[in-house]
Order: sequence, then C-alpha cells, then structure tokens
Amino acid sequence: MALKTAPKMQIRSVSKRFRTRKSEVEALTECDLSIEEGEFVTIVGPSGCGKSTLMMIAAGLEEATTGEILVDGEPAGLPGPQRSVVFQRFALFPSQTVFKNIEYGLRAAGVSRPERERRVDDQLALMGLRKFRDAHPHELSGGMQQRVAIARALVMRPEILLMDEPFGALDAQTRTLLQEEVSRLHRQDHYTVLFITHSVEEAVYLADRVLVMSARPGRIKTDIRIPRDADWRAEDIEAAMGYAEFSELRQRIWSLVREEIVTDD
Ligand SMILES: Nc1ncnc2c1ncn2[C@@H]1O[C@H](COP(=O)(O)OP(=O)(O)OP(=O)(O)O)[C@@H](O)[C@H]1O
Ligand SMILES: [Mg+2]
Repeated sequence: MALKTAPKMQIRSVSKRFRTRKSEVEALTECDLSIEEGEFVTIVGPSGCGKSTLMMIAAGLEEATTGEILVDGEPAGLPGPQRSVVFQRFALFPSQTVFKNIEYGLRAAGVSRPERERRVDDQLALMGLRKFRDAHPHELSGGMQQRVAIARALVMRPEILLMDEPFGALDAQTRTLLQEEVSRLHRQDHYTVLFITHSVEEAVYLADRVLVMSARPGRIKTDIRIPRDADWRAEDIEAAMGYAEFSELRQRIWSLVREEIVTDD
C-alpha cells in the first residue's frame, strides 16, 4: 500500500529518446521531479528542451524510454480520469456543442446521464460559459474555446491537472483573466497542477514552485519555491509585477532560462 506521505506525483529518472528512420533525438535525460498534493508547479525552459514530451509522459500519453511515473507512490500506468490534460491548442470536437465537448470524458467514464448534466452545467456556470452551452466551437472566441478546454478537464475532477501552455494562443487580456481564474480555482479546490509556460511572469504568479529546465536533452536544472503568503498574491498579475519581490523572482528565473537559450546553439 502507498504511504500517505508519498508525493502526489513523482517523475523519476525519466529519459526519452525519439527514433525516426533517419535520426535520433534525445528529448529528456534523467529528468526528476516531485509534486506534493495541492501544489501548483510551473515549468519554464527554452523552446525544444522537452517540456511537452515530459507532459505527455506525465499524462501517460507517451512512454518514457527509461524511468517511471508514480502517482501516490504507485506506478501511474495508462491515462485515466485521475490525470487531465489541457493543451495549448484547444483540441475541441468542432462538430459538437460546448455541452457535448465538456461531457465527453464523463460519458467515456460511464457517468450516468443526470449526473453528467449536473456536473457539466455546474462547470459551465463556474467558467462563465452558460450562455454558450449549445454553441459550436467555431462560434466562440479563442479565449472562450480555451475556457471550454479547461472546463472539459476540470469536469472530470482530476486529482492532477496537467497544462501545456494552456494560454499560449490567447491575447494578453484573455490570458490575464484566465490566469486569475486558474489561480482562484487552485486556491479554492486545491488541485495538484503541473503547468508549462513560456512566460516567466505567469510561472511566478501561479506557482508554489517554478522549475527551470535545461536545454535539450531536458532535465530539471533549478527548483525555486515561491512563498504562498507573498504580498503580491492578493493582487492581479499586472499589479503583482509592481512588487519588488515579484520582480526579483522574475529576473532570477529569466536569467536561468536565458543561460539555457544561449548555450542551445
Ligand atoms: N514524436 C516525436 N518524434 C520525434 N521527435 C520528437 C517528437 N516529439 C518531440 N520531438 C523532439 O523532442 C524535442 C523536444 O520537443 P518538445 O516538444 O518536448 O519541446 P518543448 O520544450 O515542448 O518545446 P516548445 O517550448 O517549443 O513547446 C524536440 O527536439 C522535438 O523535435
Ligand atoms: Mg511544447
């Protein structure tokens, strides 16, 4: 039986090598990280360092070449409702309504119809999507589509939420709103979150810990704890950037990422 003290998720010595007919790419090497229950962990690193690969492996959607993923101290196995993923691109079903898109995973998990209706409607209300219940994705803005993608993940009540640049394709304003939304949801419902981003501000603003990855083959190079009780936590991200502590963290992390970009040639 798993010990109660086991971290929620552990990524242990994960390496990944992609073999194509012509070449071989070492995407990750000896990558280790561990997330406690209820923690919000963000990952930053140079483009191509293996972040999405790590996320796919954490989700169980891609197999590690070596190493293992543990959830509650046990091998994680195949993807399931326990771990939900939100990708950068919305990946909604274009011919299905918003309701059906959000309902999809519940249906696949065999949840009864009345329960599905209740949970999807609650989620729609929570995400401010009630008016769009019967709309199709192409009728929605990019920000609304991404809300649907997030709602689809949250409706499963996953123990672990995996997000790969979920706001990357959004305009700055929508992005700010969704950052605040995700931060609020995390404080309220204590999700365990692994979140990849290119934005150092976003990483600092959302996280309990920011992990910086090295250039490819990626591994975790630095692990920086962000104080939960920092003054700027009560602010929105724009205002948070005005605080000296926030700025220092942001600069420190940015220079760590930058070192990896410079040595990436
Ligand atoms: N299915 C695949 N087959 C072959 N190579 C792959 C595959 N997926 C990823 N790679 C390679 O692995 C490396 C890491 O890719 P990955 O997408 O994980 O990087 P990333 O850190 O997410 O980049 P970005 O910040 O640009 O999203 C890259 O060199 C990429 O070309
Ligand atoms: Mg990526």
